Amino acid sequence: MIDLNGVRLRNRVVTSSSLLGYGAPRGRLVLYGLSPFAQWAPLERFGAVTTRTLSLEPREGHFTLREDWQVRELPDLLRRYARALRRVDAGWLNAFGWSNIGLEAYFRDYFPRTHHLNRIISVGGFSADEFCALVDLVNARARPGQIAAVEFNVSCHNVNFPFETILEEVLAAAVGRSRHPVLLKLSPDYDYLEHARLAERHGVAGLVAINTVKGLRLNPRTGEPLLKNRYGGLSGRAIKPIGLRVVSELREAGIELPIVASGGIRSFDDCREYFWAGADAVSLGSEVWLAPYWGYLFGPVRGLKIQRLIRRVEGYEHHGPGSRARAGADGRAAGRLPAAVGGAQQLLHR
Ligand SMILES: Cc1cc2nc3c(=O)[nH]c(=O)nc-3n(C[C@H](O)[C@H](O)[C@H](O)COP(=O)(O)O)c2cc1C
Repeated sequence: MIDLNGVRLRNRVVTSSSLLGYGAPRGRLVLYGLSPFAQWAPLERFGAVTTRTLSLEPREGHFTLREDWQVRELPDLLRRYARALRRVDAGWLNAFGWSNIGLEAYFRDYFPRTHHLNRIISVGGFSADEFCALVDLVNARARPGQIAAVEFNVSCHNVNFPFETILEEVLAAAVGRSRHPVLLKLSPDYDYLEHARLAERHGVAGLVAINTVKGLRLNPRTGEPLLKNRYGGLSGRAIKPIGLRVVSELREAGIELPIVASGGIRSFDDCREYFWAGADAVSLGSEVWLAPYWGYLFGPVRGLKIQRLIRRVEGYEHHGPGSRARAGADGRAAGRLPAAVGGAQQLLHR
């Protein structure tokens, strides 16, 4: 176990919000919402598995919540899917718009079936009151230690809401209320340094950097946007340098909270790069869990690659100089961390 300021992870490789749905398939044969690669990757081997962002009420978003699609309706389903997620340039553009079953349904249908996983529950809302209600519900349903953390998604473009206007209020009202450590997911499109400072001030346990980058693709012949929401969040290879920049700038700005890095990670070297930049853990997202349809044929190979990546990161922690060796070298020595960052401090001494 690794303790990042109270966020207890099985190792330093976690999965990014949404790519594995709610951590379990809908039924025995229906993978719906879960990357098909999940069949070949033992999810319990991850430091933690992060759920899709859950809201108080179920939301269709820009996709659908229907699960009873008939085979003859498949073309329609695929068309809808293509209006919510596209492979573009060197990454993926998505705008599902928080299409989710709602927090209550998650606790009823998925939480009891995912006890073998270390879980991070991602929640999203549009006001401080909503975040308080989400936290209260998680408090009531999950005992301390039953989940690794609650992740606040106050940084998503696909719901077209100016989250920076409510962030401070949300943190002030909801973080202290949580029985579980809180992670704050940062957007590269907002003032992430300021948001990280607010997070430190309001008792957030750690940061997740970064969420997707706002993007747009149009059909070059017609000018029609590829996605239903016009704009979407860009993820994957294309954003890796941006993610690295954000993690590094957070450290340069003196932010000492643990950072879970997210953005274009697919290999062990990607992980190492993020560790050098100042990350404490890495999160696998679209580069690992998404593929063009034909790519899913290579599921077993992908599964082996994922397991190897986890083993290498574990080995790196154990034998290597460690991501934070540099932290000592450039002045962010363990002794300088505030008491509140005890967990991260422990990590520095590993
Ligand atoms: C299809 C898709 C859905 C996503 N949904 C969510 C979400 O519900 N909540 C969230 O916080 N991030 C969401 N993300 C962002 C990812 O968790 C991740 O932070 C981002 O994609 C950057 O990492 P990557 O480049 O490795 O994919 C989503 C990303 C993708 C590709």
